[in-house]
Amino acid sequence: MNPATSGPFRIDIFTLFPGMFDGPFSESILKRAETAGHVVIHVHDIRDWTHDRHRTADDTPYGGGAGMVMKAPPIVEAVESVLGDDIDQTHIAIMAAGGRRFTQDVAWELAAKPRLALICGHYEGIDDRVGQLLDADELSIGEYVMTGGELPAMVISDSVTRLIPGVIDAESIREESHSLEGVEYPHFTRPAEYRGLRVPDILLSGHHANITKWRADEARRRTTRWRPDLLPESENES
Ligand SMILES: C[S@@+](CC[C@H](N)C(=O)[O-])C[C@H]1O[C@@H](n2cnc3c(N)ncnc32)[C@H](O)[C@@H]1O
Repeated sequence: MNPATSGPFRIDIFTLFPGMFDGPFSESILKRAETAGHVVIHVHDIRDWTHDRHRTADDTPYGGGAGMVMKAPPIVEAVESVLGDDIDQTHIAIMAAGGRRFTQDVAWELAAKPRLALICGHYEGIDDRVGQLLDADELSIGEYVMTGGELPAMVISDSVTRLIPGVIDAESIREESHSLEGVEYPHFTRPAEYRGLRVPDILLSGHHANITKWRADEARRRTTRWRPDLLPESENES
C-alpha cells in the first residue's frame, strides 16, 4: 500500500530490453508484493514509441566520439504517455553511472513518493534533453559502470518495494544494515554446530539483555572491519 495514494505503489520502468525483467520480477518478495497488491510494476519497451519501421531508438553522438546515444523523442513520449496526468506527482529517475548515489536513505525517500518511473540507459547513455524535459533525477547504484540501466532499475525497485508498508515485517527493516548506525550483527540458525563452528553460547542462553548487548558489540566490530567509513568521525580517526 502506498501511504501517499492509499493504492498500490506503482513503478514504471522504461527500457530497450524488457525481457531482462521477467525473471527477477517473477520470484520472491517482489512477486509476493505484487500478488498481495502492495506494488504494481509495469515494464515498457521504449521501441514502442519509435516512429520508423526499424524502430530506431539510438543514433551517433553529436560532436563525434565512440558509441551510440539513446534518442530523446521515444523516451520522452513513452514516459509522457504512460504517466499521463500523474506525471507531476511521479518521481522520474534516469539510471546513470554518474548520478546521485542510491543509498538506503534514498530508497526511503523514493518509497514515500506517490509513484516512481525509472528510465534505463544503454550504450553511451541517454540524450541529455530527456532529463531536462522530464525534470528527472539521476541515480547511480555505485561507483562502477554497467552495460545498461536494467540491473540498476531492478536493484532500486527491489530495495524500494521492501520498504512499502506491509511488504515485509517492520522490525526486520528497523534492525538492518544502513538503517542502523553501521552494519547489522551476524545471524545464525540451526544446526547449533556445523563443521566444528558453534553458534555463540549467548544466543542460546535466552538472556535477552545480554543478547542485545552482544549484537550491538558485534555490529560495531563488523562495522569497524568492513565499513569503517560508517563509524562516527571521532572513532574513525583512532
Ligand atoms: C555503459 S553505461 C554508460 C556510461 C556513461 N557513458 C558514463 O560514462 O557515465 C550505459 C547505461 O548503463 C546505466 N548504468 C551504468 N552504470 C550504472 C550505475 N552505476 N548506476 C546506474 N546506472 C548505470 C546507465 O543507464 C547508462 O546510461
